[in-house]
Amino acid sequence: MIRTVKINRIIRNCTGVKTISFKLEDNIIPKPGQFVMVWVPGVDEIPMSISDFDENGYWSFTAKNVGECTNALQNLNIGDFIGIRGPLGTHFKIPPKSTKHIFLIGGGFGMAPLKFLANQLIKSGFKFKIIEGAKSRNELLFLDELSNIKDKNCEFFCCTDDGSYGQKGFPTTLFEEKISEIEPIDLKNTIIYTCGPEIMMYHLFNMCKMYGIELFASLERIMRCGCGLCGLCVIDPIGNLVCKDGPIFNLAELNKMDDFGKYKRDFTGKKIEI
Ligand SMILES: Cc1cc2nc3c(=O)[nH]c(=O)nc-3n(C[C@H](O)[C@H](O)[C@H](O)COP(=O)(O)OP(=O)(O)OC[C@H]3O[C@@H](n4cnc5c(N)ncnc54)[C@H](O)[C@@H]3O)c2cc1C
Ligand code: FES
Repeated sequence: MIRTVKINRIIRNCTGVKTISFKLEDNIIPKPGQFVMVWVPGVDEIPMSISDFDENGYWSFTAKNVGECTNALQNLNIGDFIGIRGPLGTHFKIPPKSTKHIFLIGGGFGMAPLKFLANQLIKSGFKFKIIEGAKSRNELLFLDELSNIKDKNCEFFCCTDDGSYGQKGFPTTLFEEKISEIEPIDLKNTIIYTCGPEIMMYHLFNMCKMYGIELFASLERIMRCGCGLCGLCVIDPIGNLVCKDGPIFNLAELNKMDDFGKYKRDFTGKKIEI
């Protein structure tokens, strides 16, 4: 069901990225990792991860301007109306209390669901590390917010490809360094949550397989219906639908996918290399 909501807050995060907040009149509580289909009247309907759900019941998503509909979103104002369907899809499962090490590793707008997850982990008293990567400093999403997390259980590390902020390099390199600090016996008791460029998630997947670490990754595919009807988001060979069976998949599920890290489908359903 599509619900019409009024935009009540807009924050400009960094170049071409805005966070838009609204309230739904019912008492549905979204979970980190889930997404909504956002309809911009007269333009299109597109998937957006939920980046926050606050104590006053306001939902947020954080959109990067990449094309027609995301451009229209950037031009909306407080008081404008949009359509919302959701929350949709699977969510990041909160880890068992016995988990020794937890990492949230992301890049680009992949930080959106991870920020929501970080807030939940803080509320539940978990100790964890966040690793964020971007091409350069002005593309590090939520940098101020994440650098200023005062919770003693959360550590934030970041890196940039060009070295303009944090360590120079990729999140995978930073993660490799952090793994070397973990006792080998604790690797089986470590969980990684990731969202971002698929090539980064694919490298993490291979590392996790090698070290025997559990991984939960949020996949992105082109979506039309967002609810399992059109088949556009299907992944070969077993036919997982990213909108319904995902977007969150664990290591065992990713391991069965031929497409992961290699192919996605365009708007016509044709496979293209990632
Ligand atoms: C589960 C999920 C969660 C997402 N969360 C976020 C988020 O939190 N923030 C954010 O900025 N973006 C997010 N995206 C991506 C976002 O949906 C696309 O960037 C958006 O649909 C582009 O629409 P457009 O009309 O602006 O671009 P278009 O002009 O249609 O195309 C620009 C590019 O965007 C990609 N794209 C277009 N439509 C889709 C689509 N329906 N699904 C996936 N990719 C598409 C295409 O590869 C294309 O090259 C998410 C996508 C998925 C599947
Ligand atoms: S978007 Fe239509 S089946 Fe997933």
